[in-house]
Amino acid sequence: MIAFALSKGRLAEKAGTLLAAAGVDTAVLSEDTRKLVLESADKRYRFFLVKPADVPVYVESGVADLGIVGKDTLIEEGRDLYEMLDLKMGECRLCIAGYPERRDVLTNPHLRVATKYVNTARRVFADREEIEIIPLHGSIELAPVTGLADVILDVVQTGSTLKANGLVVLEDVFTGITARLVANKVSLKTKAAEMLPLIQRIKESL
Ligand code: PRP
Repeated sequence: MIAFALSKGRLAEKAGTLLAAAGVDTAVLSEDTRKLVLESADKRYRFFLVKPADVPVYVESGVADLGIVGKDTLIEEGRDLYEMLDLKMGECRLCIAGYPERRDVLTNPHLRVATKYVNTARRVFADREEIEIIPLHGSIELAPVTGLADVILDVVQTGSTLKANGLVVLEDVFTGITARLVANKVSLKTKAAEMLPLIQRIKESL
């Protein structure tokens, strides 16, 4: 049996479609249920549905053999796992964003940055002496709008959330952020006979 950690949210549907195209019986993923452990009818696959930031945790620990998660989360979590494939879906970029008329805030000696990506923000602003990182869990764009922060460090996909709130990208930090297939290092050896052909099929169905 192969256990997958899958992100709930934006990537969920696309990930399910991709796995189905690779021959995984994903019918159970479309059930309307609050269950967090789902098993395929043929008992070959188990799926854990978790928050995106928790996918690398499950895969690194070996509770899940494979996971599908955004590169933004992998950068943030810095976990010890193998990145097997770029799934080329959910493309976005990680940016510093703020008000267009206040671009000069970036040169402020004291900068307040709201973000879900706290570890990444520490690295991005490592050379600044006075940086205040404000951890948030969602609706990040609200922070500059309400005066909680000067700028945000966040992912931008269509740009519509920024636009709707009068904000713009001030600086690109990472481009080409897409979903990745990740694998547990030990599973890849102990379950090679099952996992390698599956990874190959996923690659072919991209
Ligand atoms: C993400 C991100 C932005 C938005 C960007 O949030 O934090 O808010 O998507 O997408 P866009 O450029 O297409 O508008 P998400 O929708 O995942 O929800 P959250 O606010 O709860 O983090």
